[in-house]
Amino acid sequence: MSTIIKDVRAGLAIDTRAERTIEVTVITEGGGIGVSSAPRGAPLSRGVFEAPSYPPGGVFQAIKIVNEEIAPKLRGLDAKDQEYIDSLLREIDGTPNFARIGGNTATVISIAVAKAAANTLGLPLYRYLGTPFSTTLTVPLANLLGGGPHARYGVAPDFQEHQLVPVNCKSMQDVIDSCILAYQKIREKCERIDPNWTGGKDDEGAWVPNITDWQALEILTEVADEVKDEIGIKMLLGLDCAAEGLWNKEKRVYVYKREGKERTREEQIEYICRLLDTFPIYHVEDIAESNDFEAFAEINKRYGHKVLIDGDDLIACNLERLKKAVEMKACNSFIVKVNMTGTLTDTYRVVEFAHRHGITPIKSCRSGETEDTVIADLAVAWGCPLNKFAFAEKGAPKMNRLLQIERELGKKAKMPKLPLI
Ligand code: PGA
Repeated sequence: MSTIIKDVRAGLAIDTRAERTIEVTVITEGGGIGVSSAPRGAPLSRGVFEAPSYPPGGVFQAIKIVNEEIAPKLRGLDAKDQEYIDSLLREIDGTPNFARIGGNTATVISIAVAKAAANTLGLPLYRYLGTPFSTTLTVPLANLLGGGPHARYGVAPDFQEHQLVPVNCKSMQDVIDSCILAYQKIREKCERIDPNWTGGKDDEGAWVPNITDWQALEILTEVADEVKDEIGIKMLLGLDCAAEGLWNKEKRVYVYKREGKERTREEQIEYICRLLDTFPIYHVEDIAESNDFEAFAEINKRYGHKVLIDGDDLIACNLERLKKAVEMKACNSFIVKVNMTGTLTDTYRVVEFAHRHGITPIKSCRSGETEDTVIADLAVAWGCPLNKFAFAEKGAPKMNRLLQIERELGKKAKMPKLPLI
């Protein structure tokens, strides 16, 4: 079957935040089809070092660029030449960070090309981008209670994500059982704390009660204990502080509007330590603003042997920034998002570097998602033991894709050995 690209078409789609986004379809001469639609971070939580999502003219300009400028250059190329096609996208863009065509534009083309090649060859994407040994699944860092830039600042908890991660699952069934139970229990506890709570959710589909982060962590700790007692699955806590969004550059303080507190850099570090000393936290992301590698290094030195110290906005899935983090021992894990860098090739290189240096790559969704479930396949293909996404709503298709992969692999499917556990 020929994997030569016959056609490339871009069009409009909407994401789960009801924002316009771009969808690209790639068709090969062998009849293979690859479709990808772009996710996007929230305005206040997008990393300052990630590629800009769209060209200056926005989504419609991106669609025009693909249909009029990029598609003619891709027709006739072999979809299997991923590295070449991704480098061509860089060349067409002509800037260091896809500022002209947009990171999302490059991302959806890159992913649609890979999907079209895989589809033509009759391979699932995780197998096409992985190896015959890509049979290890990934465990969700389930974002179940939201806040920060994904909710209403000052009313919701100040941190962006309060997660639970099941750590002793024997199958995806255990993952589903524990996460469903935890999700329901959190809702009940939120209702009990605030009888007037409307049952609201954030951009990700996580519950958003009007409580502080401390209360949120107390709820998650209780829920984890109850899940363990009821079904024997151990769940640990996770946090995405998204501290960049709390940082006031002028005043040089972290502003916790819901809590009614401001914290200096030193107080922020002290606060994170207090949280890590008090609650059974396994994963903590973006504990400081994205230029403060030293703050991450301090936390990593004290807790990196038992807690995943994760740089998302810190690294922005950027190889140079990851190299700096490795040199400074700033984190032991980082978030993998293709549209932060722009192409599968660039992202793969960052993941490969991380594996070689003992840094755990954690695949992740964006807060504005589409029906594209590529993050599940990428996590399996690239050996990411954890995958961060909201469990409910926009996370459901991702979870369903993991279940499909598990069924497809049958007896070969393995649960990952989780780092530090
Ligand atoms: P974002 O948030 O997609 O809005 O950037 C997700 C995250 O911070 O991991």
